[in-house]
Amino acid sequence: MSERTVTRTIPFDHALRGRFNAWFFSALDAYINRVTAPLKRTAFGSLAARTVVELGAGVGSNLRYLPPGAELVAVEPNSRMHAALAKRCAQAGVELRLITEYAERIPLADESVDEVICSLVLCTVADPDAVLREVRRVLRPGGRFRFVEHVAGPPRSIRSWVQRAVRRPWGWTFEGCDPHRDTAAVIERAGFQRTSVSDRILRGSVFYPVNTAICGIAWR
Ligand SMILES: C[S@@+](CC[C@H](N)C(=O)[O-])C[C@H]1O[C@@H](n2cnc3c(N)ncnc32)[C@H](O)[C@@H]1O
Repeated sequence: MSERTVTRTIPFDHALRGRFNAWFFSALDAYINRVTAPLKRTAFGSLAARTVVELGAGVGSNLRYLPPGAELVAVEPNSRMHAALAKRCAQAGVELRLITEYAERIPLADESVDEVICSLVLCTVADPDAVLREVRRVLRPGGRFRFVEHVAGPPRSIRSWVQRAVRRPWGWTFEGCDPHRDTAAVIERAGFQRTSVSDRILRGSVFYPVNTAICGIAWR
């Protein structure tokens, strides 16, 4: 087990909100995992590579889906998440390589990894198309991008209206998270060889604005 820190060229530290989000995702980890588990099993269930790159790894909610003895390359710009992530990696016996950069610019070589994963991150990144370009760039041909994301509800639905109504306070609280983003379209237009996307509802979740979700795999 080891922890290596790569580089930090862009600061990402909203102090209070960063700390709040680190607390929130630690405190609600079991609950969020319960409502997202069916989607995560679909997307992450067949992960087998030893090295897995995770965008926005947060406090390590997806460690439970990594194969034993895995190495996690975590692209996580929020420094308030790092201590909890490192602690949970150590407990899980997962080797952590921490990249404190935005996923819009991943400091990894072209075609150098087999698996990239993320959950509840493409809703928050500033430029999802740029992130998908980076994912395609770092994946080897045949490599997989696995995702679980909440997305915009059906057009003209009450849920869609609510998602747009709460956009500003929601985004402020959750560091830019947009409850009304069409992430499936972003993934579809990224130019993968094949993409499998499944539309889901997060059953049992109290977070109504973000209960419409997708999960799936895109093959480079
Ligand atoms: C809603 S949290 C989800 C955390 C974790 N993936 C989970 O499922 O619990 C969003 C995460 O994305 C990270 N994030 C935000 N913008 C990012 C970016 N541009 N690149 C990489 N990660 C980012 C945040 O710091 C945060 O950890």
